[in-house]
Parts: sequence; structure tokens; C-alpha cells
Amino acid sequence: METKKMVMIPGPTPVVKSIQDQMGREIQAFGDPRFVADYKKLIEDLGKLLNCSGQTFPLAGTGTLAMEMAISNTTKRGDNVLIISHGYFGDRFIEICERKGLNVDVMSAEWGQIIPVADIEAKLQSKNYAAMTVSHVDTATGVCAPIEEIGEMMKKFPQTMYIVDGVAATVGQFEDVDGMNIDILFTGSQKAFGVCPGMFVLWASKRALARRKELGTIPEYYVDFEKWLPIMETPSKYFATPAVNLVWAMAEAVRIINEEGYQVRYQRHLKNARAMQAALESLGFTVLAEKEHRAVTLSNLVYPEGLDDVSFRNTLYEEGITVAGGLAAYAGKMFRLGHMGNIDINDEVAVLGVIERALIRCGISVEPGASIGIYMKEMAK
Ligand SMILES: Cc1ncc(COP(=O)(O)O)c(C=O)c1O
Repeated sequence: METKKMVMIPGPTPVVKSIQDQMGREIQAFGDPRFVADYKKLIEDLGKLLNCSGQTFPLAGTGTLAMEMAISNTTKRGDNVLIISHGYFGDRFIEICERKGLNVDVMSAEWGQIIPVADIEAKLQSKNYAAMTVSHVDTATGVCAPIEEIGEMMKKFPQTMYIVDGVAATVGQFEDVDGMNIDILFTGSQKAFGVCPGMFVLWASKRALARRKELGTIPEYYVDFEKWLPIMETPSKYFATPAVNLVWAMAEAVRIINEEGYQVRYQRHLKNARAMQAALESLGFTVLAEKEHRAVTLSNLVYPEGLDDVSFRNTLYEEGITVAGGLAAYAGKMFRLGHMGNIDINDEVAVLGVIERALIRCGISVEPGASIGIYMKEMAK
């Protein structure tokens, strides 16, 4: 019998049955009053969930499109932009901004570390920046940026739009748009929401909406706030076809989050991540991110001496889980494990069991069940 295959990459994450059911529903016209009411409710619920008094945009597209939307609506050609990069996805903003003709300054952390907030502040003092970008969690490094502390510091720079990439963080890590002084936050459906890929959500503060108005006509079309604002207000209007089943699937994801409790969900992710990280370290892996800056949504695990990337990941796949490989300089040197969204303690025990079996098959000496014991003890605390 073939083993069950679990998708444990850092997104897409496993999709629970009640969300799958929403994806599988018979389609409705986007003007159907029942769908219009569902879409309106989703927009409002997502705004409340992340405490955003500006506007929430749940739209068809992936996280990368949301990155473009964030930049397009806050900057114009020739503006200065500061990119705080904690890895591959922080760097992605460089090309997006350069293609738009922005003057880009980049502060890059050594992988696994963060840029200190004081250094960011000093850089912001050196020039007038229209916007600054930070990934809350960079999926390539597993580093979690101190977005609340940065947001507090950003109060000294009201002319600089504070853009936070929450693709690998939102509803796993704790975030609060108004409370953390964030101007734009965005995420993708396929990560901690536990929905299929294809929808992004972008939260824009009132200041970000005002910045968009100041810009006049912008070159971008699909991602223009001004095109979508009337639709978000009255979703029976048409601008571009909404992803009907993803709207329902996201609505179910929000229902699950509210049932669990937003704070409780973060605490669950935190406890689970620390237990997983302790268990994986006991097997000889090194967590790339420094201890105080580790994400709760995923772990990037550097291999012990003698473990071959391709054979280990192939064996993991045969034994039942798919994980992601390392990126850039860490390709072949580590694997990336997602532990976010609607997964539970039973899933994690199974994952550790698979990892142990794969290590043994790859010739690494492991006491069967040892890492599971560590995980269980941490979870029982
Ligand atoms: C932190 C981060 N930002 C942006 C993206 C891009 O999102 P997408 O692949 O949905 O376009 C990803 C994708 O994994 C990500 O992890």
C-alpha cells in the first residue's frame, strides 16, 4: 500500500475537508446576491481579523501580485524605496521596484539574522523614502522580523509607507495592521490560511489609501486600488472576475480561525514551532534562523554532515512527506519544513516519524521515536 502523502512545504499547506468542500461547490454568478453577500462579509471579516480600519482587498492572484499592488499604489517613478531583506523573498522586491523605475536602497541581512531596528532607523534618516518593505517571515531563511518594533519606530517617518510581506506569516504569526502602524500588509491564501493557492489578501491603511489618491493616475491597471475600491464597497459591481470558490474557501478559513481564536492560533503555532524545532535539533539539524528571530510558521533546517539533500528529500517523499529544498546559497544544504495553518499535533508526530525513518534509511544513526518524545514533552509543558 502506498503511504499517505503530506504536503509539508512552506505553502501550499494542507487543506482541510471543510475548505476543500467550499472549493468544490457548484459555481454561482458573481452577481448572484448570495455570492455578493458572501464576498462582502469576507472583506469585512478579514478587515476585522487583522484590525485594519482602511480597506481590505481579497483578490485573485498570488503573493507576488500583492507585492506589485503594494508598490504600485504607494510610489511613483523616481521615488526612493528602502528594502529590508532577510532573504530571497525580501530580495524579490528589488526587481519589482527597479522595473518600476524606483531608486532602490537595500539592507540585506546575513541569512538567519535580522537587520537591527536601529540600523533601519539610521538609514531612514539619511533620505526621504516613499516606502519601505519588510518580509514578516522570509520563507527562504525562516527569519521572523520584529514588525511591531519596526512599526513603532516608523512613527517617526510618516512620509514612508510601511509595507509588510505577510505571505509566510499572516494568521500564523501575530499581526495587527492599525496596532502595529502598518500601511500595507499582504498574504496569500495558500499559507497559514490553509486554502488552495490563487487568492491574495491586501490590507491597506487609511494613510496608504490617501497616498494612492495623491499619486493620480498610475500606470498599473489590475492592481490599482482605485479600480477595486468601488467593488470592495459594493461587490455586485464588476471590475474583474472574482475567484468565486476561493472567496468561499477563504470564508471557511476565517470561520475556522475565529472559532479557534486569533490569539490562540498564534500561541498554538508558537508552541508547536518551538517543540518541532527542539525535536529536529535533537536529530542533528541546525535551525538556520537565530533563536530569537525564528518564525513560528516554518523551519529551515541545515543538514548534519554526511546527509545528501536529494536522497534525503526523495526518501522523505517515499515515506510520505514533501518538503522544500534550500534556496540560493543554501540549495543542497538544507530543507524547509512548513508547520503552519490547519495542521495539528497528530500531523506533526507523523512528520517526525517520517523524518526519523528517512534519516535511518539514509544511514544516519537515530533512536526511533526519540525526536517524537522530545516533541511530545515540549507540547505537554
Ligand atoms: C515571504 C514570501 N513573499 C512572497 C512570496 C510570493 O508569493 P507567491 O508564490 O504566492 O506569488 C512568497 C512565496 O512563497 C513568500 O514566501
